[in-house]
Amino acid sequence: MPHPKSSVEPASSADEASVIINAMAFDLPRYLRERAVLIEHHLAISVPESDGPTGRLIEAMRYSLMAGGKRLRPILALAACEAVGGPTEAALGYACALEMIHTYSLVHDDLPCMDDDDLRRGRPTNHKVFGEAIAVLAGDGLLTDAFGLLVGSTQSAGIPAQVIIDTLAEGQPLTQQELEHLHSKKTGALFVASVCGGARLGGAGSAQLQLLRDYAAALGLAFQITDDLLDVEQATEHLGKRSHKDLQRGKATYPSVIGIERSRALAHELAQHACQALAGFDSRAEALRMLAGFAVERNL
Ligand code: IPE
Ligand code: IPE
Ligand code: MG
Ligand code: MG
Ligand code: MG
Repeated sequence: MPHPKSSVEPASSADEASVIINAMAFDLPRYLRERAVLIEHHLAISVPESDGPTGRLIEAMRYSLMAGGKRLRPILALAACEAVGGPTEAALGYACALEMIHTYSLVHDDLPCMDDDDLRRGRPTNHKVFGEAIAVLAGDGLLTDAFGLLVGSTQSAGIPAQVIIDTLAEGQPLTQQELEHLHSKKTGALFVASVCGGARLGGAGSAQLQLLRDYAAALGLAFQITDDLLDVEQATEHLGKRSHKDLQRGKATYPSVIGIERSRALAHELAQHACQALAGFDSRAEALRMLAGFAVERNL
């Protein structure tokens, strides 16, 4: 477990009481809606329609980018910026870059050479509509347009490729530790970038950043474990993407390695660890606290 409780100061009972009162007052669905509107407006201007020679490519980029989705990574960036007292707008461009990178990863993840999926965000996948060549380029375009806004990178020296790239891990018996590494790289890294980038733009100090990094790493892992569970438990029509595919493809997932019940318990435990990292933050971190619960209780 990478986030031991001992590294986090326990909240006093007065703090706990105020957290409970704030949690009762905090309207998460409304917060998610309002932030998503802001992000989608900014995304639409960041990748404007074009009738020039690259019009078809831009159309493909916008097709996947403007198809909805939870917008969780950019919302986390905004929430982290707000949690340290920064203005929401300070992290808006960065937040949109994250969503573009995330969307690029979905477009490529669905390609025939990867997970070979035909449904995403309730729509036919990018390559089904535009063809593989345009889908590859649309992903590249989203990544390239977003890239200048990102800082930092993760290093994985000395770790076998199949523990970093999940298609190479198909059919491989991974240990739980290797699987944690894989999930942390494929999903957790973008959560850490979302939260830490947003917090930096909001003026976070280094102690706050370290706590927010712990929060985001635990949250990212919890989120991917929940994604693995949703694949097992939910229907395709509900998810808007094909379910029951991971087992069929021999994917390394938490349910396949430690079982459904232990996966669910671990996801909840990680969400709690994430919240504990926020114990020293005031009510402006309420969105982040609520998002930790959302990440593991969601059914979509
Ligand atoms: C799906 O991410 C891919 C994973 C990393 C599990 P989301 O569940 O956030 O997908 P959208 O953005 O809501 O479509
Ligand atoms: C997430 O893993 C991979 C990405 C980072 C895109 P999955 O392959 O499980 O994501 P879904 O289930 O197709 O959204
Ligand atoms: Mg995949
Ligand atoms: Mg996939
Ligand atoms: Mg999945």
